[in-house]
Amino acid sequence: MLDFKSKIAEKISDITQISIEELQNFIEIPPDSSMGDYAFPCFKLAKTLRKAPPVIANEIAEKIEIDGKIIEKVEIQGGYLNFFINKTELIKTVLEEFENKKELFGSSNIGKGKNIVIDYSSPNIAKQFHIGHLRSTVIGSSLYKIYKFLGYNVTGINHLGDYGTQFGKLIEAYKLWGEEYNIEDNPIDELTKMYVRINNLCKADENVLNNCRDNFKKLEDGDEYCTEIWNKFKTLSLKEFQRVYDLLGVKFDSLNGEAFYSDKMWEVKEILEKTGKLVESEGAKIIPLDEQNMTPCIIEKSNGSTTYATRDLAAILYRARTYDFDKALYVTSYEQILHFKQVFEVANLLGLDEKYLKGLTHVPFGMVLLPTGKMSTREGTVVKLEDLLNESIQRAKQIIETKNPSLENKESIAKKVGVGAIIFNDLSNSRIKDEVFDWDEILNFNGETGPYIQYMYVRTKSLLEKVNKHPLLTDIKFDLLNDNTEIEILKHIYNYDNILQNVINKDEPSILSRYLIDLSQKYSSFYNEKHIICDNKDEQNARLYLTYMVGSILKNGAELLGMEMPERM
Ligand code: ARG
Repeated sequence: MLDFKSKIAEKISDITQISIEELQNFIEIPPDSSMGDYAFPCFKLAKTLRKAPPVIANEIAEKIEIDGKIIEKVEIQGGYLNFFINKTELIKTVLEEFENKKELFGSSNIGKGKNIVIDYSSPNIAKQFHIGHLRSTVIGSSLYKIYKFLGYNVTGINHLGDYGTQFGKLIEAYKLWGEEYNIEDNPIDELTKMYVRINNLCKADENVLNNCRDNFKKLEDGDEYCTEIWNKFKTLSLKEFQRVYDLLGVKFDSLNGEAFYSDKMWEVKEILEKTGKLVESEGAKIIPLDEQNMTPCIIEKSNGSTTYATRDLAAILYRARTYDFDKALYVTSYEQILHFKQVFEVANLLGLDEKYLKGLTHVPFGMVLLPTGKMSTREGTVVKLEDLLNESIQRAKQIIETKNPSLENKESIAKKVGVGAIIFNDLSNSRIKDEVFDWDEILNFNGETGPYIQYMYVRTKSLLEKVNKHPLLTDIKFDLLNDNTEIEILKHIYNYDNILQNVINKDEPSILSRYLIDLSQKYSSFYNEKHIICDNKDEQNARLYLTYMVGSILKNGAELLGMEMPERM
């Protein structure tokens, strides 16, 4: 696709002798198109050229050659050079690129030959899959899709929390009262009850606690009975988690959780021991991190059992060797920032290639807050994700029932709208921000929401259905799309691939959510201003082609976020 930015950079480079790549990075898109389509902030060159920005602007403007073909004119505004591109060229570029790529518009192969590993969702076996895990699932899954769309080779890993001392306790509880609990039908709730009960007993009776510890040790040593029960917990929990993944449409390439590393941690210990940095402290083995201003990373507890951190270190070794990753992302709440800082610091001692160490990336996100405060197990305010999703579907159904009672397939549409609303909400603000969960906002069809985007998409669909088939590119007269409203949309569409690349540069899907809201709003203005189905067939064709492009990108973008689009609503 014709790259306007690099054309502008080329021209400035001819005059200043500064490299095109460097100049290109400085070029901005002004907030208002009266200030041009692109702007070059000359103060970026003030140091190198030893001149004041307005002087630089004047000099470049004087020497620059504008033939009107790609760039129409340049204006000086203070220290800025504002560039106005040739709109016919823009229209032609966008429409031809779209015609070539259709639903693959925006995709690329910049990731070719690069491996990305994304660790996301990662709930804990025998514990509730709660709304906090939703964010990890939704952010991770969306990044997965976007990296893939840009040509990367991606592996999605659900690093299940299926190991640790709590399983020793659950095994003991099962031995004692297994008969009393119906874990087959309702595994997570029942296992949670058993866990609370055994914990209380442990507090009262030291012997029971010791039995629990023994059980975990036995499990680590491969004891048949303990492994069998643990496997049962795991299978049943996964079955329950799978219901949520099915609702969300989320998939993984690997379910290697913490237990998978049980026979791989010795190597971490061995390597760390050889470095001489592993020291004993109160019976435990630790890597002190005073120099980095952090608390130590515990590699082995005083009772000889391994830790969450050791398993993550073993996982880094394994993933480097198995997937040869260029980037390894970990999507968790910001509560684990310290954990990953410690683990990545210690990873420097594992003797890995620099490439892997550089690729380790924590992708933290904020809390989900109910209007009453943080959701936590301790305060009993945990909201089960499955309940939340189902409630959203019910609410969407009620709204559809009042707005469009005669709609066919209400069930399946309500599912797309209800689940889509939750997914979009989770991705609509910069991920690090805490998010307040508010039903009325999430499902507001006129707000900046998932349903709003779906609604706009459905509009484009029904317009196209009126004429049966979208128009052909050969029937489009480009100059009929030359009004401000249309140009605004076309510029936005032109920018789609750039936006997707920004998403992965920052691992921030909200950049795409924002983009889709803007596209919907721009299209909505166009829809309100212009008669799309009209007597002038040339105008109709041009407007319908624009409609067709907008619909296609809304669908593609929403799917990259993990939403499904209804065809009607
Ligand atoms: N199971 C952990 C939790 O629920 C998240 C695991 C994240 N991934 C990792 N490799 N540590 O908090």
